[in-house]
Amino acid sequence: MLDKINSLRKEIEGLTASSPEEVEQIRIKYLSKKGLVPALFNDFRSVPPEQKREMGQKLNELKEFATAKLNSLREALATTAEDDLAGIDLTRTATPAPFGTRHPLSLVKNEMLDIFARMGFTIAEGPEIEDDWHVFSSLNFAADHPARDMQDTFFIARNPADVLLRTHTSSVQTRVMESVKPPIRIVCPGRVYRNEAISARAHCFFHQVEGLYIDRNVSFADLRQALLYFAQQMFGPETKIRLRPSYFPFTEPSAEMDISCHICGGKGCPLCKGTGWVEILGCGMVDPNVLRACGIDPEEYSGYAFGMGIERIANLKYKVSDLRLFSENDVRFLHEFDAAH
Ligand code: DAH
Repeated sequence: MLDKINSLRKEIEGLTASSPEEVEQIRIKYLSKKGLVPALFNDFRSVPPEQKREMGQKLNELKEFATAKLNSLREALATTAEDDLAGIDLTRTATPAPFGTRHPLSLVKNEMLDIFARMGFTIAEGPEIEDDWHVFSSLNFAADHPARDMQDTFFIARNPADVLLRTHTSSVQTRVMESVKPPIRIVCPGRVYRNEAISARAHCFFHQVEGLYIDRNVSFADLRQALLYFAQQMFGPETKIRLRPSYFPFTEPSAEMDISCHICGGKGCPLCKGTGWVEILGCGMVDPNVLRACGIDPEEYSGYAFGMGIERIANLKYKVSDLRLFSENDVRFLHEFDAAH
């Protein structure tokens, strides 16, 4: 028994391993349940009682020795992995990764939302896939209004309920009015879709910011003041505004707003086509029919709404005249806005 213990100890002492797999094999051979060391423990039963104490001690020592050896083999391999890093200069600067830039439409949108946030407007969003009610019917579009025509709207399904891609973010007005009690003061940014041939001046999708303010005693003068503040923050303090009567089904009265041309200062140039004014948005007082459709009493509440294209504002601000540039993701175009944020 003692001989067996000693020779096994010698054998274990001389073991080497060059991979974790080899270490595992050594463990199986010597220390697993059916390994050589536990086998000796089985032989221990036949040791005469007077030797049991000494043999027991030797056996335990062998087991500890084998376990320690296995651990040191494992550690030696781990050190080798660390040594692999020794030749690498960890203080060297990594190749700098180039930063992306914000999209010009995001820059303009954020600036617009910031300006309205200063006037107490919070952000509301709604789905791009909408139904007829939220895009048209609730907003007082007559059943035969031409905007419902396939020419303008992408329909996804017709009948029983029309499912379509929203043609304007005014649909978010309805969603909010249906679920929140006045006072309501929101701006709704988002993408809208129209069935248009793509050209420098039109695209089948673009972006809008819609605004809505509903409370007691809201007047057209409030609307004018809010829009003047917006225009001067966006285009400079010397900017003037002009409201021209217009028509939208969901507002009464309705208007379109021009700003004084910030390129020529109102003298007349190609951008304003010599008029000194450029159109930037549609607006008006929310039609009582719209309030009623959304469960708000027009006798108690009134409100104003406005809507504008983000591309349009970006065009004016950055003089980008081809709409297609905004969705082509040409990095040469996108990098022109590096300094803008
Ligand atoms: N929804 C209109 C459009 O898509 C924009 C608009 C005009 C929104 C007047 C309004 C508004 O809220 O009052 O062209």
